[in-house]
Amino acid sequence: MNMRVPQLRFEPADELAALCKAGGDPLRLNVLRALCNDSFGVLELAQIFATGQSGMSHHLKVLAQAGLVATRREGNAIFYRRALAPAERLGRLLHSALLDEVDNLELPADVQTRIAAVHGQRAAASQDFFSRMAENFRAQQDLIAGLPQYRDSVLALLDALGFAADATALEVGPGDGGFLPELARRFAHVTALDNSPAMLELARMRCEQESLGNVELLLADALNEDSERLAADCVVLNMVLHHLAAPADALKQLAQRVKPGGSLLITELCRHNQSWAREACGDLWLGFEQDDLAHWATAAGLVSGESLYIGLRNGFQIQVRHFQRAPGSPDPSAAVTLPTT
Ligand SMILES: C[S@@+](CC[C@H](N)C(=O)[O-])C[C@H]1O[C@@H](n2cnc3c(N)ncnc32)[C@H](O)[C@@H]1O
Repeated sequence: MNMRVPQLRFEPADELAALCKAGGDPLRLNVLRALCNDSFGVLELAQIFATGQSGMSHHLKVLAQAGLVATRREGNAIFYRRALAPAERLGRLLHSALLDEVDNLELPADVQTRIAAVHGQRAAASQDFFSRMAENFRAQQDLIAGLPQYRDSVLALLDALGFAADATALEVGPGDGGFLPELARRFAHVTALDNSPAMLELARMRCEQESLGNVELLLADALNEDSERLAADCVVLNMVLHHLAAPADALKQLAQRVKPGGSLLITELCRHNQSWAREACGDLWLGFEQDDLAHWATAAGLVSGESLYIGLRNGFQIQVRHFQRAPGSPDPSAAVTLPTT
């Protein structure tokens, strides 16, 4: 007798089950929390959660099978990040709800300390690069994209914004100060902040050569400085974000430095796969997806404005992005007065 076996299809339920399985473990939930605004390699996550590499790889595989994390190659390293909920698949609501709930978790203090240590290791590698490379800075920059290739586009965007005569600017990571004369001409006061003494010395020499009397140079880490003191109408980052340990967090902090109605201008490489840039140019990240910058800026309370894209002969593409702080938002530079009782 020819018995017909019913063909039961469980694929959609399998997907939901994978999601439930991935969410059913406290370590995996904490990994998702740590990836909220950041991406980490498997070794970094093993360090952060004080667990073995193979155990961490297993947890990441379960999260990846559920579509909760995605990978991104940065040179020889694979970085894990959160994946967006799929638009049209079963599980979309559960995926979003799970991540929303996870964001309410507070990571244990020791985990937070080890995340800071990983960021510290990344930042130290970047700082070490600039202390060694200051002498050859321009040649090094020109391997990918030098200021002449994006200066006019940044200026076009800047001039279109029409800042008031008394407006102030903050340039983060001025390098050898090549953009400072342009800012000094357009703003009443300019603060330039760099965490590399060697690079800041180059910027100082430039200010001296060009007699820039309204530029103040500060040796400081962009992410450790007191934001209130540094608030400006226009914050500029040219080719700096890909050197910062935690770019999404960095955008949050930098957004705090933009005065209400003010602007954040970012010149960055678009996402690329030329991993030699990590060694040759000290890049921590191989550019950024346009959507990622917009997403991080929105999460930082900014609104996306104009963007310009510049294609370069050597295969790189540059994005010049404008983000604005809403005019009515709280002023980070305003003194907070506590009510007296
Ligand atoms: C690639 S250079 C860009 C220089 C310049 N903006 C340009 O477009 O030519 C990056 C600069 O950012 C600085 N930098 C990197 N990380 C920083 C941080 N966390 N805080 C302040 N400056 C930083 C480096 O020292 C360097 O001067």
